[in-house]
Amino acid sequence: MGRDVTIVEVGPRDGLQNEANFVETARKVELIDMLGECGFARIEATSFVSPRWVPQMADASEVMARIRRRPDVVYSVLTPNLKGFEAAVAARADEVAIFASASETFSRKNINCSIAESLERFRPLAEATRAAGIPMRGYVSCVVECPYEGPIAPDAVARLTENLLALGCREVSLGDTVGKGRPETISAMLDAVLDIAPAERLAGHYHDTNGRAGESIEISLELGLRVFDSAIAGLGGCPYAPGAEGNVDTCKVEALMERLGYRTGLDADRLQEATAFAAKFRRSKTSGAAQAGA
Ligand code: HMG
Ligand code: MG
Repeated sequence: MGRDVTIVEVGPRDGLQNEANFVETARKVELIDMLGECGFARIEATSFVSPRWVPQMADASEVMARIRRRPDVVYSVLTPNLKGFEAAVAARADEVAIFASASETFSRKNINCSIAESLERFRPLAEATRAAGIPMRGYVSCVVECPYEGPIAPDAVARLTENLLALGCREVSLGDTVGKGRPETISAMLDAVLDIAPAERLAGHYHDTNGRAGESIEISLELGLRVFDSAIAGLGGCPYAPGAEGNVDTCKVEALMERLGYRTGLDADRLQEATAFAAKFRRSKTSGAAQAGA
C-alpha cells in the first residue's frame, strides 16, 4: 500500500467557524494564502451556509474573491443546499462539500432537517455539480458518537456513506465530530464502512477533544485510508457540537506521518509559521451558538 498521504487543511472553515469573535476577512485571506505556501493540495476555505446559523462564515464570497489562488491547490467550500451551491459556483470554488450526519438529532441541530430530508435536499445540488463539472465531497458527522445521542451504530455510518457515494460524492470524509473516538470504536466504524466502500473513497476527519485523534489516524492508515483532514493550530470545532475541540492539529499529523514513514509533501517550516499566525485566532473555545445550547 502507498506511502503518500494527503492532508486536507480545513482550518479556515472548520477551525474559524467556531470562533465567537468575527475574524476579519483580510485575516482569513492572509491565513489561506499562508496555507497555500505550505504544500497542501487541498484547502477548505470557507462555507456557503446561512449567515444566521454561522455568522463567522458570512463573508464566504469575499474570502473566495480575495485569496491568491495557486493553480496547484484545490479550494473547496461547504454547501448545505442549492442556494449555497449557486453562491459557491459564483465564487469559483474548485470543489463543494455536502454534509450529513449519522445522528438524527445532530442533523436537526446542524442543518435543521432529518437525515432522509438532508439526502433529498442534496439531490438537486448533486445534479447541479454534475452539470457544472464540479467535484463534490461528502461528510458524515458523528461517526462514533453524537453530542446529543451518545454512541452511534457503525451501520448507520455505512448506510449514509453509501448514500453519499450514490449521490456522486467522489470521497466521503468520516467525522468524529466530538473527538471522542477510541481505537475500538473507530475500527468498528471503519470495518462497517469498508464493507461498502473502498479505502480510496474515504477520508478521516478527527477532532482531538481527548487527544486521541492520532490513534484514530493510525488505525485508519492500517485499514488503508490515505486522506486526513486537519486544522492549522488545531483550530475550531463545530458550533452545533458543544464541548468538541478543534480538528487534530495539522503539525501533529505531519509529525505523525513523518514518524510512521508516510509522505505528505508539506513544508514543516512553513507550517510552523502558519501555526503561529493561526494560533492568534484561538481566543475562545465555544461560539455563541454552542453557548446558547443550539
Ligand atoms: P433553515 O433555516 O432551515 O433554512 O436552515 P431555510 O431554507 O428555511 O432558509 C432560512 C434563511 O436562510 C433564508 O433567509 C435563506 O435565504 C437563508 P431569509 O429569507 O430568512 O432571510 N439561507 C442561506 N443563506 C446563505 N447561504 C445559504 C442559505 N441557505 C438558506 N446556503 C441551513 C438550513 C442548512 C441553511 C442552515 O441550517 C445552515 O446554514 N446550517 C449550517 C450549519 C453549519 O455550517 N454547521 C457547521 C458545518 S458542519 C461541521 O462542522 C461538521 C464537519 O466539520 C464534519 C464533522 O466534524 O463532523 C463538516
Ligand atoms: Mg469537523
